Amino acid sequence: MISQNSIEEVLGTAKVDEVIDEFVSLKQRGVNKIGLCPFHNEKTPSFTVSPAKNIYKCFGCGKGGNSVQFIMEHESISFPEAIRFLAKRYQIELEETNVEEIDPEEKLKKDSFYIINDFAKAYFQKNMMESQEGKSVGLSYFKERGYREATMKKFGLGYSLKKGDHFTQTAVEAKYNIESLRTLGLTSKSDFDFFRSRAMFPIHNLSGKVIAFAGRTFSTDKKTPKYINSPESEIYNKRKILYAMYHAKGPIRKAQECILVEGYTDVITLHQGGIENVIAASGTSLTIDQIRLIKRYTENVKILFDGDAAGIKAAMRGIDLILEQDMNVQLVLLPDGEDPDSYLKKVGVDAFSTFLKDQAEDFIFFKTNRLIDEVGNDPIKKTRMIKDIVDSISKVRDTLKRSLYIKECAKLLDVDEQILLGESNKSIRADIKQKRLKEEYATRQQQRQQQRDSGFEGLVEPIPGDQEEQRDHSQPNKLVINDDYQERDIVRVLVNLGDKIYDEEQKTTVAEYMVINYRELIEMIDNQLYKSILKETIEQVDAGTEFKTSYFTNHSKEEVRMLATDLQMDPYHYSDWDGKSLYLQTQKMPDENFIKDGLNSILRLKERKFQRTLKKVDDMILGEKDDTQIINLLKTREVIRKQLSEVRLQLGTVVPVSF
Ligand code: GTP
Ligand code: MN
Repeated sequence: MISQNSIEEVLGTAKVDEVIDEFVSLKQRGVNKIGLCPFHNEKTPSFTVSPAKNIYKCFGCGKGGNSVQFIMEHESISFPEAIRFLAKRYQIELEETNVEEIDPEEKLKKDSFYIINDFAKAYFQKNMMESQEGKSVGLSYFKERGYREATMKKFGLGYSLKKGDHFTQTAVEAKYNIESLRTLGLTSKSDFDFFRSRAMFPIHNLSGKVIAFAGRTFSTDKKTPKYINSPESEIYNKRKILYAMYHAKGPIRKAQECILVEGYTDVITLHQGGIENVIAASGTSLTIDQIRLIKRYTENVKILFDGDAAGIKAAMRGIDLILEQDMNVQLVLLPDGEDPDSYLKKVGVDAFSTFLKDQAEDFIFFKTNRLIDEVGNDPIKKTRMIKDIVDSISKVRDTLKRSLYIKECAKLLDVDEQILLGESNKSIRADIKQKRLKEEYATRQQQRQQQRDSGFEGLVEPIPGDQEEQRDHSQPNKLVINDDYQERDIVRVLVNLGDKIYDEEQKTTVAEYMVINYRELIEMIDNQLYKSILKETIEQVDAGTEFKTSYFTNHSKEEVRMLATDLQMDPYHYSDWDGKSLYLQTQKMPDENFIKDGLNSILRLKERKFQRTLKKVDDMILGEKDDTQIINLLKTREVIRKQLSEVRLQLGTVVPVSF
């Protein structure tokens, strides 16, 4: 157990923008930072981070929260693990009880998968560095490949022993759960070690946790697979992982270029040579998820192909996927028979770097030139080729870039530019437009749903007193009338501005001031979630606790946390309470009006509650036969009416009251 103090220290120290910045490229946008959401697929950024409020929110998929939630969600880890992760990042020493003791049940869960893989990595490393067999087979192999010990350490390279079950035995003795060992693919069904007599390459996720292994055989037997990999598991989805991204993400961002190679050993050799913006898709052909992962850090990709051109054609088709993501793709073809690993060793780092620079060819031109060589003068083949190239060109979204390609390719292909342009436009109309519309439609639907979920269905606030109809979700066919807008608004002001000083002399806060004014209303609040927040604030104020807006974004109840995050990140703010009360899409919070805002939100609710009661009394009067009762009701009505007028006077709204 991590102590509450420690949790608070982490929450108070961790800066959400710093934490997220390691996983998402953020750009300044006003007071916020925005980037491409890591939790759903999008092409235009709607993932918003507020450093001031220390929270994030994606307006595309709705995910949001503080830095702990981000790490939990992004790394798929539990709350305590996320706290530990951040504590490590900020060098905070955690007060923990029972630190060493790992619950055996716990070992079945995700967190423990990482712990087990970590154990396995250390085990394989130890084998290699300390056992006789490891040194003579594993270590000498890597040394022969030219790897320095620091490089082996950086990539966590290791060795798995020949003996059939040494790892499994060791792990079981160390009290690791055998089921988990099997799930992770470290141990076979019959309790043998999965990796035997192989050079071990741990595969890390973005934050450096080991999620899988690749093992390279030492055998030259063609029947033995050269590499075997851990099976996919809850923590390892090979389509979403790029080998060495953990090490390469910083360099990629810095260089604003990502070099993509084929093999693990290519990656390692280049890193060792000082070219560190290098990753590999490890065995699979590049997936959309992987492309999007790269795009978080850069839009420029350089793909290195081995000299034997066998796979190039298939790979070229995959590259259209990258173009569709609005990325710039360059290709480098290595000399015959070389892969990046061998070629770097052959020519040295400087010559290698120069080669990459000189030989890098824009993908479209690369493709065009290759096809020209291939097709020769066959007119039918040539037509097909033109279509093929046009297809690729039309995947490029940037119009300027596209027209440049058309111009250049027309020259290369020796066809009229207009023809290419026409073809390309056709292709675009058929393809991109439809796709984009589909996408935009989906996004809009999502946003609408979110607005509905959050109670902000329209952009226009209903006229005060107008009883808007809302669906009761528990009874879909029943229309209910409620004050959700106004109730939510009180909470909105509170969680946004509650800590502001309302009265300089008395040193009262907006929260304190609001509590004075809404206390009498508390039992009339319909929405239980809002009510719980307002009640908790009353309790805090009464107890003399300092009110902090982060209290609710860091709240232990998820629904409270989500609501507070939503409210703090809501892009719709009031332009003017006294005017037409339009919601404007603005990033600016009307801080200067916060006192008025706070009071008005309460007055508005009061107005509606009184109005509602008035209507009820009116109905009763209409249905009442007894004269004395009617007189009593009329008296009550008068009292309420006065209160209502009072509220309206305070609000400054001149609305004709119909009675
Ligand atoms: P070295 O031969 O040691 O230089 O390894 P390499 O990584 O350069 O291997 P190679 O060029 O033959 O293959 C490139 C990449 O394809 C490897 O890094 C692996 O990701 C993948 N690969 C190659 N062989 C296999 C295999 O048998 N199984 C799987 N799953 N992947 C393989
Ligand atoms: Mn190789």
